[in-house]
Amino acid sequence: METMKRTVTCGALREGDSGRRVILNGWVHRKRDHGGITFLSLRDRYGITQVVVDPPDTAAESGVSLRAVAADLRMEYCVAVEGVVRPRPGSMRNPDMPTGSIEVLAAYIAVLSRSEVLPFMLDEVNKDGTPVIPNEDLRLKYRYLDLRTARMQHHLALRHRTALAVRKFLDSQGFFELETPTFIKSTPEGARDYLVPSRLYPGQFYALPQSPQLYKQLLMVSGFDRYFQIARCYRDEDARGDRQPEFTQIDMEMSFVSRDDVLDLTERMMSVVFFETLGVTLPEQFPCLTWDEALARYGTDKPDLRFGMELLNGDFLADAGGFQAFKDALAGGGTIKALVVSGQGEKYSRKMIEDLEATARVYKAKGLGWTKIAGTGTAPVLEGGIGKFFAGAESLVCAGLGASPGDLLLFVADGKPRIACTALGAVRSRLGKDLGLCSPGQFAFAWIVDFPLFQWNDDEAKWEAAHHLFSMPQKKYHATLESDPGSVKGDLYDLVLNGCELASGSIRIHDPALQKRVFQVAGIDEAEGEQKFGFLTDAFKFGAPPHGGIAPGLDRLVMLMAGETSIKEVIPFPKNTFAQSPMDDCPSPVSEAQLRELHLQVMREAH
Ligand code: AMO
Repeated sequence: METMKRTVTCGALREGDSGRRVILNGWVHRKRDHGGITFLSLRDRYGITQVVVDPPDTAAESGVSLRAVAADLRMEYCVAVEGVVRPRPGSMRNPDMPTGSIEVLAAYIAVLSRSEVLPFMLDEVNKDGTPVIPNEDLRLKYRYLDLRTARMQHHLALRHRTALAVRKFLDSQGFFELETPTFIKSTPEGARDYLVPSRLYPGQFYALPQSPQLYKQLLMVSGFDRYFQIARCYRDEDARGDRQPEFTQIDMEMSFVSRDDVLDLTERMMSVVFFETLGVTLPEQFPCLTWDEALARYGTDKPDLRFGMELLNGDFLADAGGFQAFKDALAGGGTIKALVVSGQGEKYSRKMIEDLEATARVYKAKGLGWTKIAGTGTAPVLEGGIGKFFAGAESLVCAGLGASPGDLLLFVADGKPRIACTALGAVRSRLGKDLGLCSPGQFAFAWIVDFPLFQWNDDEAKWEAAHHLFSMPQKKYHATLESDPGSVKGDLYDLVLNGCELASGSIRIHDPALQKRVFQVAGIDEAEGEQKFGFLTDAFKFGAPPHGGIAPGLDRLVMLMAGETSIKEVIPFPKNTFAQSPMDDCPSPVSEAQLRELHLQVMREAH
């Protein structure tokens, strides 16, 4: 290796380098033989360089002919090539490759390491140019090979550049990057904890942090004023496209700030990140919706603002026609929500509408009302579905909803307004995808503010924190905290990007008495509060500063920037949907001796 160490990378050479003698190190990406001449695409992280093996068939000093070495090369062999750079003949130039105007005529090739036959082809493309994605478990089993693909190299480079841009920006704003422990006291934050048994203290456990929440608040009590950490978090919850048991947050906390300070800083951070990594300029301020507004207009607190198609209030329809379900919903204190799907009346068959109805039913809707507008602007006709119940009121319906001929109308009415909103909201999201309204290169951020502080847990029949227990109830609700928890709004905010929750945060409680009241509403009595969170409320007794923070998920951020729909695509070694790693076979049994040492019962049946 001493003499075959690379002098350039595989992405570096240009026409101006012609005549240079160079050494390249890399992997055999592709190999083609053309009448005794071998062409190799040699790949490393920086690019691909074409190598030509066109030797007179004489043995080199080593006694092995270059032709014989080339004949032996297989895909993904790791090699060193020494040769001379030369311009490619005009017809052989490849304008799509940065190194496409040159090739290296090999004088010597050393095999640094051989490769077995690959379990899947790397960088294979479909006819339409999109990458062939092999089976996921195979990709995860051979993740180190999967990570060699151009797509994964690009995604992880983007992840690196994103983290770097975040660090540089937050440093410039006076933040300290500080680490908090990963072995902590179990203080569940909403999900299940991962536990680590203590060898020294039988029957006692450390927990892996679901987030550094309490520690970052304690750092504020310590006067650090501005903290951040690219923090690993652990949650034992079911995996989904945008969830992993182990994930990373850009965790931030600040003292002496208002909600708007946190929003402003986060907007500036996102702008810097998007500009530095993607060259994309974001708006200076992101649209801001209250939680109530988001639910009413989009049926979700994670609206995708890449397209409009807002939910409309259709309460006037109860009186405008004779459709009993509408009348019942309104009479029962509910609402009628409507969606105008512009110009799609023709396209949507009854079968397609039934599919949409199935989506609405997942969100507890009793059904999905529909009709199509035909006729003319001045004499509209409501065709099919519930149209017949509005005979004579067609113009009123169209005017009330701003709809015109050619449109499809969809409705959900329910005695519970929340169900009408969320069910039709889910239909809206689905239509956005089906109708191609979510352009991949577009980034639509939105702030959602004024969340309810508590939500009712039907299964356990109790109030619980909607976000976490440490968020500040808005001042006007302090007096009614105990008497009317359901109406209390908190100083909470979420950042949403393209319909995905990117970040959550809040202004925190810093008054121990108020903190205890919030615990109590959430069913945590004095003794339990003391046992679980006493260290925090104790700290608040020593001059705790007002503080607040936020935590964007790094994985979700990079996923959206990369145009992917699963965070597995931007994490080097993720778990599969069943929280396993097929590569190293994890989780896996441990020896009885290890279990005994940890004072754990031997789980024979698991072996
Ligand atoms: P929260 O629980 O909302 O807030 O998490 C903040 C952000 O972290 C990301 N995230 C996840 N990403 C991948 N897999 C998961 N399982 C997962 N869970 C959450 C999301 C989410 O918006 N301590 C608070 C933050 C604060 O109040 O400052 C917290 O953890 O992008």
